[in-house]
Amino acid sequence: MRILLTEDELKEGVAKMATQISERYADRPLTIIGILTGSVVLMADVIRLLEMPLRVGVLQARSYHGATTTRGPLIINDELMPDIEGRDVLLLDDIFDTGHTLKEVTARIRKLNPATVRSAVLLYKEGRQEVASVPDFIGFNIPDEFVVGYGLDYEDAYRNLPFLAALEEEDLQHTSDTHNT
Ligand code: IMP
Ligand code: MG
Repeated sequence: MRILLTEDELKEGVAKMATQISERYADRPLTIIGILTGSVVLMADVIRLLEMPLRVGVLQARSYHGATTTRGPLIINDELMPDIEGRDVLLLDDIFDTGHTLKEVTARIRKLNPATVRSAVLLYKEGRQEVASVPDFIGFNIPDEFVVGYGLDYEDAYRNLPFLAALEEEDLQHTSDTHNT
C-alpha cells in the first residue's frame, strides 16, 4: 500500500475541520453521532478539539453487497443513539463515497425531529457521488482510490493504522460476500 495522508497531515486536516465546526455552532450545545465503525478514530480526535457542551452517540450503518459494484440495502441500527429531539445533530462519518449512506442516515435522523442535522466527513472521494447532497464539513478531498487506516477498513483490517493509505492491486483480494460499516 501507498501512504496518501501522513499522521501529521491527518492531524492538521482534522484540526481545521474542528475549527470550522466550532465556528458554525459557537457555544450551542451539540450532539455528535458517529457512524460505526469507520468514524471511531475521527470521532475520538474531533470531540477532543470541540469546546461547546457536547453529547456523543453512535449508530451503525451497514451495506451488504456481493461484488464491489453492486449495492445491497443499507441496514441502520439506531438503538444506541441518545434522544435527539430538538437538538443540533452533527453526523460524523469516515468517508463520503457514493453518498448513499449519509443520505439515508440523514433521512432517518430527521424523522426523530432534531432542531438541525448537518454532516462531517474526514474524506470526500472525488468523482463517485450518486446523490445530490454534500457533507457540510469535509476534511480532505481524495482521488477515487480504495483507502484504509485511521478507522477505514478493508475486510475489517487496517482500521488501526495511524495514517491513510491507498490499497494497490496486489493488496486487494476480492471475496464474494462483504459488508461495509
Ligand atoms: P457511501 O458509498 O458514501 O455510502 O459509503 C459507504 C461506506 O463505504 C463508507 O462509510 C465506508 O465505510 C465505505 N467505504 C467507501 N469507500 C471506502 C474506502 O475507500 N475505504 C474504506 N471504506 C470505504
Ligand atoms: Mg463506514
